[in-house]
Amino acid sequence: MKKRVAVIYGGRSGEHDVSLRSAKSIIEAMDPEKYKVLHYLISKEGKWSPRPIVPEPHGNPEIDVVFPALHGTFGEDGTLQGLLELADLPYVGAGVLASSVSMDKEVMKRLMKERGLPVVDYCVVPRCGAWTFAPDFPMFVKPANLGSSVGISKVGNQEQLTAAIELASSYDRKVIVERGIIGREFECSVLGNEDPIAAVPCEILPSRDFYDYEDKYVLETARTVLPADLTPEKTAELRRLAVECYKAVECEGMARVDFLLETATDRLYINEINTIPGFTSISMYPKMWEYSGLPMPKLVDRLIELALERHLAKQRLRYSK
Ligand SMILES: Nc1ncnc2c1ncn2[C@@H]1O[C@H](COP(=O)(O)OP(=O)(O)O)[C@@H](O)[C@H]1O
Ligand SMILES: [Mg+2]
Repeated sequence: MKKRVAVIYGGRSGEHDVSLRSAKSIIEAMDPEKYKVLHYLISKEGKWSPRPIVPEPHGNPEIDVVFPALHGTFGEDGTLQGLLELADLPYVGAGVLASSVSMDKEVMKRLMKERGLPVVDYCVVPRCGAWTFAPDFPMFVKPANLGSSVGISKVGNQEQLTAAIELASSYDRKVIVERGIIGREFECSVLGNEDPIAAVPCEILPSRDFYDYEDKYVLETARTVLPADLTPEKTAELRRLAVECYKAVECEGMARVDFLLETATDRLYINEINTIPGFTSISMYPKMWEYSGLPMPKLVDRLIELALERHLAKQRLRYSK
């Protein structure tokens, strides 16, 4: 019997188009002997076609597992995951909690600090009036919840800072200001439920001032180096931190953990964790796995397996006395 996999893509986020490309790669990697793909497209306005997945337990017998291929708001942030929990459907990737705390760059940093994991100094606007770190330029201003570098600015002086805060505020009610790290940028794929494993990391070489939206998806001029050119010790440290970060947010399924390496101090910082990383033809999440011995079709098999395993484990729990 083929497994019926509902792939959900598109969505109401700024990453709608990226999602279409991720879904295409995921679907192409799914063995037609093993899977029957059910397409669920969500428009930019939020309209589902052919129809919404109904949040009613056992109300969707035609679906065995859901593969959310949505990035950002209303897809990667726990909201869709909540809908799928209500519908009692197994789904690929992080659960509600890990999705939402990973989406919020500020809450995520708090969880890292609690475990003693290295994150860049930051503050939340408006509390940035009383700087908790030396307000030295460059700094980065970000909406707390978003992705694909949307609303993010690198600022070099006070005037730019004010404008950047205004811009970020138009995307989120919570804005953070971070110390700018001068150095290199790395990414590491993680996979698993209870026993997550990290792939061989890669380096990102932005072609612009920083790794912004154009660089990621429009110009596609950023270069990547896989395997990352790091000492064996630094590589091991980075992979260990990737797994620690994953565990700290209680992630399951998959995530890509992104790092900054400060040149002056040789210190690694966890920048962010993405619970539905890109799966486009140029995306690094599947590339790192491929390099580590897990080609895309096997990766998709494993992600579906992990989704079913988690669902089964949850079904064994009691929800009332
Ligand atoms: N504190 C920082 N120091 C140096 N570069 C940064 C810093 N924060 C972000 N960047 C740059 O901005 C890019 C986007 O920021 P990031 O936090 O990853 O947001 P997004 O979720 O939109 O990808 C990063 O890939 C990096 O190039
Ligand atoms: Mg990023």
